[in-house]
Amino acid sequence: MRILGIETSCDETAAAVVEEVDDPARPWVVRSSVVASQVEIHREWGGVVPELASRQHLRDICGVVERAMGDAAVTAKDLGAIGVTQGPGLVGSLLVGVSFAKALAASWNLPLVPVHHLAGHIESLCLQHGPLPLPAMVLVVSGGHTSLYDVRSPGEYRAIGRTRDDAAGEAYDKVAKLIGLGYPGGPVIDRIAKAGDDRAIQFPVARMTHPDRNEPLKKGQWDFSFSGLKTAVLRHVRAQGEGWSPGPQELADLCASFQRSVVEALIGKTFAAARWYGARSVGIAGGVSANSRLRADAEAAGKRAGLPVFVPSLALSTDNAAMIAAAGLRRFHAGVRAGEDLNAEASLALTP
Ligand code: KG4
Ligand code: ZN
Repeated sequence: MRILGIETSCDETAAAVVEEVDDPARPWVVRSSVVASQVEIHREWGGVVPELASRQHLRDICGVVERAMGDAAVTAKDLGAIGVTQGPGLVGSLLVGVSFAKALAASWNLPLVPVHHLAGHIESLCLQHGPLPLPAMVLVVSGGHTSLYDVRSPGEYRAIGRTRDDAAGEAYDKVAKLIGLGYPGGPVIDRIAKAGDDRAIQFPVARMTHPDRNEPLKKGQWDFSFSGLKTAVLRHVRAQGEGWSPGPQELADLCASFQRSVVEALIGKTFAAARWYGARSVGIAGGVSANSRLRADAEAAGKRAGLPVFVPSLALSTDNAAMIAAAGLRRFHAGVRAGEDLNAEASLALTP
């Protein structure tokens, strides 16, 4: 069976065709994946401008879907369903994808499956690698979310921790803006940090406690927080005085030190939770999982813990529609169908 996925939750208009094949080790195959990024439009404003985003989705959606169908060499009669991101995200952006998908499903007479954006990020792991050894501890780390999921059976995502303030990607973007590196901040900080000394500046790392399995868990044990780190970077920059303009090494040291704090907090908590819940694998998905240091440190932590670590390819890390198609397939088989009253939900919850 083939499914068309459509994703417009933020600033990427994306469509993809994913096929389910008879191979238990790798059941989902990407036949096409098209992403029209709006990053050049929003860069000028230092972040995503919701109104500009929805207008651009409107311009791009037809061409992106046509291209995804063409690249996969399929027509409507080759599809078994359409999956679309229902939320969470920017409501104007989501509405473009949801309305378009509803119209397509009605005119092509295909079932429509509503998909949670974060379920898409989680399923990007299965799309890339096949089924993960379960239970799996999955960290979803993006521009809007930083959450930990205990996945005990396929398609069951139990949230055990989340950020109390900024998402990790948001911290990257805000710090990059603060030091004049532009938007989006993650890729540029990642690149510059490579030349830096990650111990040059002592930024705070969220304190890690390693809970004893015999004691009850503290409330919020697996939560993250990045606003303190962001404030520490701001204080550091202010302490350098008015008109501070860092040299290349100083900038690299700052990026590397900030990045170490983020990555240590993410990895420390994810692996502690994996131990606590008896996970057999660790997954890391979402835009920030493209980070080179996070990938390398997760791999090393997995080796130390004796746990396999799974991350998506770079193309499947940041927002795309192949992951939405994959999550749509899973939901399709669970019998989930959208009614004619399907609406975009900016704060949609991910229920197990
Ligand atoms: O998953 P995504 O494409 O969109 C959301 O659902 O939010 O994630 C975008 C986020 C941005 O904050 C961006 O700065 C961050 O992912 N990001 C990175 C890297 N590439 C993208 N953060 C750190 N290192 C990277 N290499
Ligand atoms: Zn995302």
